[in-house]
Amino acid sequence: MGMMKIFKRKKIQGIDDTHYLTLKEEIRISKENNKIIRQFERRKARRNVDESEYLTQMRDPSNVVEFDELHTYFYTEVGTVKAVNGVSFDIPEGKIIGVVGESGCGKSVTSLSLMQLVQAPQGQIVSGSIRYKASDGKCYDVTKMPTSEMLKIRGKDIAMIFQEPMTSLNPVFRIGEQMDEVVLLHDSSATPESARKRSIEMLNLVGIAMADKVYSSYPHELSGGMRQRVMIAMALSCDPRLIIADEPTTALDVTIQAQILDLLRSVMNRINGSIMLITHDLGVIAEMADEVVVMYAGRIIEKGSVREIFHNPRHPYTIGLMKSKPGKATQGERLYSIKGQVPNPINMPDHCYFYNRCDHRMEICSKAYPEMLQFSPTHFSSCYLYDENKVGDTKNVKESE
Ligand SMILES: Nc1ncnc2c1ncn2[C@@H]1O[C@H](COP(=O)(O)OP(=O)(O)O)[C@@H](O)[C@H]1O
Ligand SMILES: [Mg+2]
Repeated sequence: MGMMKIFKRKKIQGIDDTHYLTLKEEIRISKENNKIIRQFERRKARRNVDESEYLTQMRDPSNVVEFDELHTYFYTEVGTVKAVNGVSFDIPEGKIIGVVGESGCGKSVTSLSLMQLVQAPQGQIVSGSIRYKASDGKCYDVTKMPTSEMLKIRGKDIAMIFQEPMTSLNPVFRIGEQMDEVVLLHDSSATPESARKRSIEMLNLVGIAMADKVYSSYPHELSGGMRQRVMIAMALSCDPRLIIADEPTTALDVTIQAQILDLLRSVMNRINGSIMLITHDLGVIAEMADEVVVMYAGRIIEKGSVREIFHNPRHPYTIGLMKSKPGKATQGERLYSIKGQVPNPINMPDHCYFYNRCDHRMEICSKAYPEMLQFSPTHFSSCYLYDENKVGDTKNVKESE
């Protein structure tokens, strides 16, 4: 038995501890995964599902999307990665919602869940709901929709813009062909001529001067900023009500970044839609967002209006992010960075996930996970520092250490 254990071990890392899997454990995990995955996939593949199963009502009719206790997991060979672990927030109509957090916090998986584009079969929405108000006025719970139904709404009302447009554009087709295809796909009455007209119109709209020339170019002939403009033009061509922009300017240099952000903002006003803006860059959030959601290791640890988050951040993680913003350090000073790193959300503890990196940790912080506390109608954070019932009777761990 001892031999078996040494024989095949995979290192896995939880929040603090490192532990090794035995072959037996691995086989057990794999069996369990297969069983769970099969159930989920069977559910999604069903045909002729009655609409009543996934029609729902918005909690607040002025929202386009409501995430409600969303849990999205990956069933991997080393265990269950709880990439999104109980996330709730709203995207109101006509607003820009910034989602911020270090890399690996679950921002992308949250947005992919909304599109039912989480990498299956290992990635699955496990529980919670995502209510979505479509342009036909109906409200759908995306988590309960069979794939065949989801295909009808995906991309029609919701458009996505990614970090690196080179990977979203097909290198072997000209820009125009790819743009026309989107128009033709979404508008059954479009003809090749009307599609071309619309594509050129959209290229003009995003500030591309020689639209005709770009229309007949290949992606590699354009600069990064230009390609991102093309992606925005493409996203616009089907009149989306919601644009999901996942790190849209991360691959661009600073001056181009500002232009693209300006463009996004003007585009949003034009379509009177909403933007879910995902970024690790607080500077971008400050420029753009109306409301901010701060994620850490698959959970929301703070949310509020942009003013509240920037002028009165509560959670030590948010405060740390603020301090590590470039431009904060004065000349010659080293830029602050939060020590440690985002844990791999496997075998997460019951206590606060930020515990091992936090300068303010207290005894209580290693016990139950802190509840969301409310500071204003819009400002929430989950941290014991502000829990009057809990703070009084505990000492700072650091003092007692
Ligand atoms: N296909 C996948 N398989 C396994 N784990 C994944 C997969 N995609 C993402 N994850 C994990 O989910 C977590 C959240 O990832 P992600 O949403 O991409 O983070 P962010 O966008 O905030 O940088 C990470 O720990 C990541 O390793
Ligand atoms: Mg991401």
